[in-house]
Amino acid sequence: SQAHSQSISEPNDYGDGDGQYANFSWDNLGFNFIPTDYMYMMKCSKGENFSQGNLHRCGNIELSPASGILNNGQGLFEGLKAYRTDDGCLLLFRPEQNALRMKIGAERMCMPAPSVEQFVDAVKQTVIANKRWVPPPGKGSLYVRPLLMGTGPSLGAAPASEYTFLIYASPVGSYYKEGMKPTHLVVEDKLHRAFPAGTGAVKSITNYSPVFKAQNQAKTKGFSDILFLDAVNGKYIEEVSSCNIFIVKENVISTPETHGTILNGVTRRSIIDIARSFGYQVEERVIPVEDLLEADEVFCTGTAVVVNPVGSITYKGKRVEYKTGAEATSQKLYKTLTGIQTGVIEDKMGWVQPA
Ligand code: COI
Repeated sequence: SQAHSQSISEPNDYGDGDGQYANFSWDNLGFNFIPTDYMYMMKCSKGENFSQGNLHRCGNIELSPASGILNNGQGLFEGLKAYRTDDGCLLLFRPEQNALRMKIGAERMCMPAPSVEQFVDAVKQTVIANKRWVPPPGKGSLYVRPLLMGTGPSLGAAPASEYTFLIYASPVGSYYKEGMKPTHLVVEDKLHRAFPAGTGAVKSITNYSPVFKAQNQAKTKGFSDILFLDAVNGKYIEEVSSCNIFIVKENVISTPETHGTILNGVTRRSIIDIARSFGYQVEERVIPVEDLLEADEVFCTGTAVVVNPVGSITYKGKRVEYKTGAEATSQKLYKTLTGIQTGVIEDKMGWVQPA
C-alpha cells in the first residue's frame, strides 16, 4: 500500500534523526496517546457505502455539536498493533479480524462500515505513513486505533446522517503501569459492564466509560483493575475492563464463552489456538466465580494488554494468589504470541502480514 494522497503535507514536529525513527525517546513507553504524523479519514452518508479515504496530518477534528457520536454515543473503535522486526519489516497481526468485528459492530449500531479490504488497506496506509513512529524492536509497538462514528447531526435519538471512519496511531509499550508484572484484580459485584442483547460483544465506545467508576474505586484501594460478573445472576465471570480473562487448572485452560456480553477478542481467539497447539485442553464455558478459588493460574488477553499474568484476585474480601513467573503457562503463551507478532517465531497460522 502506498501512503500517498493530495492531502498529505510534510511532517515537521519531530526531527527525523537517522531517517528511520522519529526523534523520540523510546524507553519506557506506556499506554498514552503520543500524536504521530498522519491519520486516515473516509466519510460517507447514511445509506451509502464508504468509497475513498485519504491521509491527513494528525490533529484535532471538527465535529458538529449535534453529531451522533457526541450525542448518542454512536461509535465503535478497534485496536491493533504494528511491530517492527529485527530486519526492519513492519508486521500487522490479523487485521482482517478487526475489520470483520467492526462490520458486526456497525450492524449493531446502525452504521455503514468499510469493507474488509478498505479497512486493511487504510490500516496499512496509516502504518506506512507513520513508520518512523513504530518503536525499535523490543521497545513496543505502534498501536493503531480505527474509529467508526456518526459525525452528522442527530438531535433526536436516531442514526446520524453522516459517518466517518478514522484511523490514528500512537506508539505504545505496556498497558498497565506495572509493566508486564502480575496485576491484582478485584471482582466487581455491584456495577456491570454489559447485559444480554446489549452491546458488550461489540466494540462500542459506550462499553468503556461505564467501567470507570468501579475501576477508580478499585484503583484507590490499590488494585490494578476489576473483573466483572454477569449482570443477570452476578455469579459468572465475564471480562476485565479492557481485556478477556482465562483461568488455568492443571492441563485445562478455560475462558468465558462469548454469548453476547463478552468481547470476542482477537488475542483471545489466538491464545485459544496457540494453547490447543501446545496440547492444552481449552474450554469456552460459563465460569462460576468460585472457580477462581480453585485455579492455579489466571491471565488476561487483549491487543493492548497482550497476555498479562494475574497475581491475585480479591472476591468478597478474600484474596486468592496465582502462579506467575517464567514457568507459568501465561508466560509460554505470551512468548509464542509475541514471537509470531514480531516475526521471531515462524508464523504457521498465517496470522501476520507486512504493512
Ligand atoms: C485493546 O486491547 O486494543 C482495546 O481495545 C482495549 C482498550 C480499552 C485499550
